[in-house]
Amino acid sequence: MAARYCYLARNVTPNGSSSQQTAPLPSHWQVLEEGPSEGPGRVVCVANQKGGVGKTTTCVNLAAALALRGHKVLVVDVDPQANATTGLGLDYRRSSATAYDLVLGEASLDEVAVQTSIAGLSCVPASPELAGAEIELVDVEQRESRLGQGLGGAAARYEMVFLDCPPSLGLLTVNALRAADNLIVPVQCEYYALEGLGQLLETAELVRRSLQPSLRIAGFLLTMYDGRTKLAEQVAAEVRRHFGALVFDSVIPRSVRLSEAPSFGEPVVTLDPAAKGSIAYRLLASEVEGRYGLVTYPPPPPPRQSTGPRGQWKPVTVPGPGGRGYGTVAPEPAGLEEAWPPPSPWGAGL
Ligand SMILES: Nc1ncnc2c1ncn2[C@@H]1O[C@H](COP(=O)(O)OP(=O)(O)OP(=O)(O)O)[C@@H](O)[C@H]1O
Ligand SMILES: [Mg+2]
Repeated sequence: MAARYCYLARNVTPNGSSSQQTAPLPSHWQVLEEGPSEGPGRVVCVANQKGGVGKTTTCVNLAAALALRGHKVLVVDVDPQANATTGLGLDYRRSSATAYDLVLGEASLDEVAVQTSIAGLSCVPASPELAGAEIELVDVEQRESRLGQGLGGAAARYEMVFLDCPPSLGLLTVNALRAADNLIVPVQCEYYALEGLGQLLETAELVRRSLQPSLRIAGFLLTMYDGRTKLAEQVAAEVRRHFGALVFDSVIPRSVRLSEAPSFGEPVVTLDPAAKGSIAYRLLASEVEGRYGLVTYPPPPPPRQSTGPRGQWKPVTVPGPGGRGYGTVAPEPAGLEEAWPPPSPWGAGL
């Protein structure tokens, strides 16, 4: 299995056909692919140096879906773009300390973690100044371990900690890999999204060997799947062929609701629980529970609001806590519903 990583990035051509280019890889990689270690208190790095593949969307919605299922979850925004921060309805300008202070050792986890509007879900906000941390840390001793040091004890306080990485393999991502014991790699179902996957895994393996021996690949997540295109189907099949059981069964469909949700400052799983993007992330949450051996809780009912005489209830879409929403709820384009392959199994109790 190890030898397939390097050529994966180049063996899918734009028309979907495959070319076999192999590159020898050290057997150490097999350790990385052993799969997630079980039990709560897992620190999961969500990384892919390719931009816009769904890292933040996955962090925000998977974390929210797990919190809705009763888990205590923390999202750490390690990206100066601060998309996870705003996506959870937080404004870093209102925080006296952010991930920047945590990385530089100027604030503790307790000082930077903020409770979100979702019970059980906290967030360490990022701010644009985090970009400067990469430069400021250059001469600092153990610069790759600063985030891990700042997050010391997080695994004891949270069942799952998600680290949302920036689209690069720079010092912030290396810090996140060093702080994590698991890696989730979102893979956009588009041709170019496969490029660089070998480089990411090589970096993860280097970190595992030299800095974080417990680092494992928790899974590859197929995102923005649009089954109306042949390429999406072929990329998904190719990724499954190469990474087998490491690919999550759950597939995240391309969904208008998912792209609208950040403008409401709210995860789609609470903004529109019935949207297929929400269902996909809730299914993923149930799969993650299974993979990590988390104690499962019965899911709470979707939010409801009284609309009249007692006993008459109707589901509503609750506006985001950030109140910055400019998006309007648009209908999904025709055909998307059919384009989404029903994942298997169809998560019990959702
Ligand atoms: N399944 C999806 N369907 C439709 N749009 C999506 C989906 N997932 C993410 N998006 C949208 O695609 C864009 C990129 O997603 P996201 O920010 O999650 O990617 P990212 O990998 O975190 O990006 P970056 O590398 O810049 O941090 C966002 O506008 C997001 O709302
Ligand atoms: Mg992002």
